[in-house]
Amino acid sequence: MSYTPKKKGGAMKIIKVAILGGVLFLSCISLHSVTIIGHRGASGYEPENTLSSFARAIECGADMVEFDVWKCLSGEIVVFHDMRVDRLTDGTGCVELKTLDELKELVVLGSETIPTLIEVLDFIDRRVKVYIELKGLNVAEAVVQTIEHYVTKKQWQYDDFLVASFDHTQLQEVKMRNNSIAVAAIVCGIPVKLGSFASDVNANIAVLDAECITQRFVDDIHSRGILVYVYTVNNADDAARLVACGIDGIVTDYPDYIRISFSSKSDLFLSSS
Ligand code: G3P
Ligand code: CA
Repeated sequence: MSYTPKKKGGAMKIIKVAILGGVLFLSCISLHSVTIIGHRGASGYEPENTLSSFARAIECGADMVEFDVWKCLSGEIVVFHDMRVDRLTDGTGCVELKTLDELKELVVLGSETIPTLIEVLDFIDRRVKVYIELKGLNVAEAVVQTIEHYVTKKQWQYDDFLVASFDHTQLQEVKMRNNSIAVAAIVCGIPVKLGSFASDVNANIAVLDAECITQRFVDDIHSRGILVYVYTVNNADDAARLVACGIDGIVTDYPDYIRISFSSKSDLFLSSS
């Protein structure tokens, strides 16, 4: 007499397990499809935007390495974050007002030198994709020319490069000069027209501030066929919350920590993954 209810309970249990398995499997796919971008290399461990930081990001398993570029007074493109050298070096003054020779004399955080874009690309040597953030003005043309040189002469592919900026006019210029180069429009805050800032410049990716994420914002950008990356995320719980919103990439100072946090969650969810 008690057999029938038991059988129903067993069936329900199987259905519940199947549904849970499906959800967890989809979660697992979602977690594994998130691109991990090393912010200024692995700047949580090494001086930001230096060859040491890029080496560490690659060791940490980053899919992509982010760095910032300026055009210096003698015309070369250099890799550095701030407008002024004061915070990070033993010198003072603006990056754009110094020649490469002057910048090369500076010591970054006690031990490193400021690399050029060419030095960084040669060092990375296609081991990971590169995310070049344009800082300052009038840097787009030289960066496009450098990318074209690496694609035509050094066996890199356009797919190895992403050009990003808060300056969306320079992203328009990149697209106008070479539509094969993927661009990412960075924004701080939530615009009234949500993702239109990204579609306005034909961006492939929108890069959002981690403190300004809503499901509606993410969904609006996705509805435009544009991926969503988020900066700068150094906490595993924050990363999990953002992944649950469906974001596609995380910019982090600690690429290994974020990757491990995903792996451990995946292991918990689905041991065969
Ligand atoms: O590209 C995302 C992030 O790097 C933008 O902020 O100040 O680190 O260049 P910032
Ligand atoms: Ca940056």
